[in-house]
Amino acid sequence: MAFQVVTTLDALWSGEMIAFPMQGKRVLLVNIGGEIRAYEDACPHMRTPLSEGALEGATLTCATHGWVFDVSTGRGINPAQTCLTEFAVVIKDNEILVDVEQSSTPRSTSVSGRRST
Ligand code: FES
Repeated sequence: MAFQVVTTLDALWSGEMIAFPMQGKRVLLVNIGGEIRAYEDACPHMRTPLSEGALEGATLTCATHGWVFDVSTGRGINPAQTCLTEFAVVIKDNEILVDVEQSSTPRSTSVSGRRST
């Protein structure tokens, strides 16, 4: 399956998140200071929609039991051993396109917190 247009940049301001169904999955789009990320809208703990949680900067807290994630990387903060399923995102002109069949594990980070890949 290819990338599909899901919304526009105008509909997802910095600091916001939106969720929508796509090909039988729930997708969570997050805008972190202009960087767009797409994750499965399901907490890895008990599958609660992450879109029901609270987003502060790049920190997303699940509404059900309070697990905390860094949505700039997809990595768990508390607990640190968990991670989100990320989908591939492409920005073309003003449109946000997602491919839910291209998923990945979180980006690796160095000890200082900077991305290494
Ligand atoms: S379902 Fe998200 S922390 Fe339990």
